[in-house]
Amino acid sequence: MTRQDYIEFILDHYQNPHHKGKLDDPDILVNGGNPGCGDIVTIYVKLDENDRIVDAKFDGQGCTISMAASSLVMDKIIGRTIAEVDKMDYTELIEELGREVVQSRVRCATLALDTMIAGAREYPSHKATGKKYVSPIILAETFRGEQLG
Ligand code: FES
Repeated sequence: MTRQDYIEFILDHYQNPHHKGKLDDPDILVNGGNPGCGDIVTIYVKLDENDRIVDAKFDGQGCTISMAASSLVMDKIIGRTIAEVDKMDYTELIEELGREVVQSRVRCATLALDTMIAGAREYPSHKATGKKYVSPIILAETFRGEQLG
């Protein structure tokens, strides 16, 4: 794909986001904030009895790249288990968005995935207590994404 193709891919996700909105009674509700700009994304997840994601939505306000990446991340997490989400690769996301286009905006590109992984990591201990997981705002530090810049 050319640089222009990646830009159009990002704009299409931004203008026609997949899985945007809220879910009633989610099993996980996680908020992630980008400390660099204050943008926030909220992710709602419904799980089946095997902790596989059967539905997910995102909401929030942010730049074109963060919102497009949120849309793409929803596409990618539905159908995966929480354990699989925990191991998701930032490199794959960056390549799909176009490394050349997003390499100077890695924190924007990885905000939703960082947020979702943080939720996936916290969820098991909350499940053990029989509670749904609702996070405070997690400041996404792109703990793996930073290495991609
Ligand atoms: Fe805030 Fe991109 S400028 S997430």
